[in-house]
Amino acid sequence: MLVEASAPGKCILFGEHAVVFGQPAVAVAIEQRIKVSIQPSPDEHWRLEGHRLDAKKHPHLNTLRHRLWPTKDGAPPLSIQITGDIPRASGLGSSAALSVAACAALRVARGRWMVEARDGVHHWAEGYSSSIGDTDAYATFDDQKAGLRPSNYDNRTHMIHAESALDLDECAVLGHAVEAAAQGGRASPMDASTCAHGGVVLLSDQVEEDATHLYRRELEMSDGKRTWELHDLEVPEGGDDLFLVIGNTGVHAPTSAQVAKVAEAIGQEPERMKEIETIGTIARRGILALKNGDYDAVGRAMTENQIMLRGLGVSCPELDALIRAAAPTSLGAKLTGAGGGGCMVALTRNPKTTSEAIELAGGRAFISKFGNEGVRVETIERMPIWSPDS
Ligand code: MEV
Repeated sequence: MLVEASAPGKCILFGEHAVVFGQPAVAVAIEQRIKVSIQPSPDEHWRLEGHRLDAKKHPHLNTLRHRLWPTKDGAPPLSIQITGDIPRASGLGSSAALSVAACAALRVARGRWMVEARDGVHHWAEGYSSSIGDTDAYATFDDQKAGLRPSNYDNRTHMIHAESALDLDECAVLGHAVEAAAQGGRASPMDASTCAHGGVVLLSDQVEEDATHLYRRELEMSDGKRTWELHDLEVPEGGDDLFLVIGNTGVHAPTSAQVAKVAEAIGQEPERMKEIETIGTIARRGILALKNGDYDAVGRAMTENQIMLRGLGVSCPELDALIRAAAPTSLGAKLTGAGGGGCMVALTRNPKTTSEAIELAGGRAFISKFGNEGVRVETIERMPIWSPDS
């Protein structure tokens, strides 16, 4: 009676922090993944790794269970297991991967009610999507109707099960909503969308040419509304020897504190918005280089991006040391994620030498190819485990 789903971590090539202000950015799904398994709990409590689920320690899981597995509607408590090889609080999207994989497991385990329109076309009777106006992934979780389409829900006709119930946009929009809640209302959709869709994800303030447009995402923040256009970017082959080497400083740095630090710096000195805009300009240059398959220029843009991130105050001596060590054998290197610790990334044609240099400088290095698979269902032993009013 087990359902398992997994999602990859992510690594940001350009644009972290500036993307929270609506500037362009690019992230790639890495090889490392997180797997979430769910099964009915042996007793009346929600359990995580055998222990009672602590809502404060696991706000992501807590929000998701209220969205997709409402106990008040009779959903039985679950027992959750998390495994994987994405280091926590290290800038590689472990919390987004967890949220996206958990969302997939819960949806697959409950199925999805559908409605048949007069023209015979089947639509969702329930669910979260960036293209449905009357569902709100961002609503507070005690909102009874969150995620339901009230007009359709009464007319539900049949249920779809297993993998056919899975929707990548739904995993991404819910993942973004829980990230935003955990980051004090300030989060771009980059991490959640990359973990959901995999490959290479491009965020921009406009619909881009030479990329597949996925959807528009909007979020109201304390200092105004942000809008991002998300795309799947097919990048030209860089050759068999082109790798990302990720170096972990081992210093834990929560994203929320780093994001708040940047917002505060700009709040105090609004002219520093110029630095955010410059990161946007560098990211645009990097995106063009990626589209052209000019990886030397991609590397240069990464290195320039790092100079700006250091100026913003989100690098740290440990990150600087690993970046310095990787630079001589790389096309470019920078911190990746929120900074303040966590990981750096180098684009390199010498993955072994670059990894050794990072390890010698005190980091833990691992290698990833570009663009890995997004969220996927791993195992379905029985479903639905529960469905609303079934
Ligand atoms: C964190 O992985 C990336 C940041 O840009 C935050 C965000 O995009 O929400 C620092």
